[in-house]
Amino acid sequence: MKLNGKVAAITGAARGIGKACAKRFLDDGVKVVISDVDADGLAATAAELGRPDALRTVVGNVAKRADVDKLVATAVQEFGRFDIMVNNAGVARNRDILEISEEEFDEIIGINLKGAFFGVQAAAKQMIAQGGGGVIINMSSVNALLAIPALATYAMSKGGMKQLTSVAAVALAPHNIRVVAVGPGTILTDMVASSIYTSEDARKTVMSRTPAGRGGEPSEVASVVAFLASDDASYITGQTIYPDGGRLILNYTVPVKDK
Ligand SMILES: NC(=O)c1ccc[n+]([C@@H]2O[C@H](COP(=O)([O-])OP(=O)(O)OC[C@H]3O[C@@H](n4cnc5c(N)ncnc54)[C@H](O)[C@@H]3O)[C@@H](O)[C@H]2O)c1
Repeated sequence: MKLNGKVAAITGAARGIGKACAKRFLDDGVKVVISDVDADGLAATAAELGRPDALRTVVGNVAKRADVDKLVATAVQEFGRFDIMVNNAGVARNRDILEISEEEFDEIIGINLKGAFFGVQAAAKQMIAQGGGGVIINMSSVNALLAIPALATYAMSKGGMKQLTSVAAVALAPHNIRVVAVGPGTILTDMVASSIYTSEDARKTVMSRTPAGRGGEPSEVASVVAFLASDDASYITGQTIYPDGGRLILNYTVPVKDK
């Protein structure tokens, strides 16, 4: 219970990794406000998680600054302070790089990168106002470093997030605020089902680059988030930690099992 009594906000928490982070935080004694653009999904997740003593919801779009500000304000209003921000909301679209429209570029960068930037600003302003301290965690990806041509906008957004994390870490260190990122490999969520595991061949291609031989569980990302949010990670700032089953260190391919 290293996080007991802390107050956190998580974006994109109606499902997938964000939902797993909310469950982990609640189990660890954190009071949590979860947010998502999907109002029905958010309500269903809140009902499933239970814990009306420690859980609140705010419907919002991270690409809108006012919505992100409202999320942090709600955490303070409901629970009296603010300690941990998880900028998790993200989207991926498969598209040939030559076919990406201006609108789609703006949409993906607006959610994945600008949304996280708004989260950094809103969280840091509140943390500074209450005397400093706190942790901001950006949900990045191995695609911050690796290139999948069909996910160009996604890779660009996560590459930008790497620098958002670094520059904010340096800027906010005098306020004792740590800014870190988590860069998962392939985690078994709806996002992967719709954009990566589009066929059995696609799954095998991903597994040929995954020494662990399996996709990761959302809870295996949430445990890294919980560690980074805790004082066990008190000397880590500006870094991206990659729970990726060995993807980034592989310089070849590995044998793939049939499903
Ligand atoms: N699943 C993976 O393999 C993987 C790998 C690396 C990084 N990530 C990152 O983890 C994060 C979560 O991914 P996931 O796999 O759980 O995806 P997911 O699609 O299962 O869940 C994403 C959630 O974000 C919400 N969302 C989308 N646009 C939003 C917006 N504008 N404002 C607020 N909420 C919005 C969705 O409604 C959804 O509930 C993303 O940032 C993603 O890039 C995922």
